[in-house]
Amino acid sequence: TVQACLFDLDGVIVDTAKYHYLAWRQLANQLGFDLTLEQNELLKGISRMESLEIVLGIGGVKLSEEEKLKFAAEKNAQYLEFCKQITPDDALPGVRDFLDELKADSIKTGLGSASKNAKTILTNLDMLNYFDTIVDGNRATKGKPDPQVFLMGAEDLSVAPEHCIVFEDAVAGIQAAKAGGMIGVGIGQASVLTEADYVMPGFDGVTVKDLFEKLK
Ligand code: G6P
Ligand code: MG
Repeated sequence: TVQACLFDLDGVIVDTAKYHYLAWRQLANQLGFDLTLEQNELLKGISRMESLEIVLGIGGVKLSEEEKLKFAAEKNAQYLEFCKQITPDDALPGVRDFLDELKADSIKTGLGSASKNAKTILTNLDMLNYFDTIVDGNRATKGKPDPQVFLMGAEDLSVAPEHCIVFEDAVAGIQAAKAGGMIGVGIGQASVLTEADYVMPGFDGVTVKDLFEKLK
């Protein structure tokens, strides 16, 4: 039986993945190369500094530690600039209804995100109080695919991993869920999220009851 649902933020609750991509692409362009959407998949769920390493690797660019910190800060400033336009209307279709239904069914909810900006974004969405616990990039020390964020969330909620569903749009996020012994539901394409237990394009029209039925 499912007792808790843990949600990734970027690409699951809100489409900030497009803003992360734009900000990373801008940085890449500044350094003289381009970043494709396909390469951007590698960055989903990955911490800011690890993402920077991947981006620099793609461009074959070597930087000093000091320059890396400077560029990471620039990317984040650009990203936050994009995020200013996020309003409660930007929650992805069906997500709010799904969370309401979980509440009504007394199923616990948690957020598990690598982002250090998670609370800012949830505040812009007016969704901070939708979650019984929030584990973000300021709390977790290990990035996905390490299961730490989700295990911390499960522990906060006093629910055993096998009774948790994780909703994730990132390959690394599904890997984290599975490594933690949880059920991994992919948000996106089955051809990308091959390790997920079940994949759906989003929450639009999805009821908790129907989904749990499908996962049986
Ligand atoms: C999420 C996103 C990643 C992002 C990471 C860190 O996991 O999917 O693309 O790099 O958070 O986000 P931050 O907002 O702290 O830079
Ligand atoms: Mg994500």
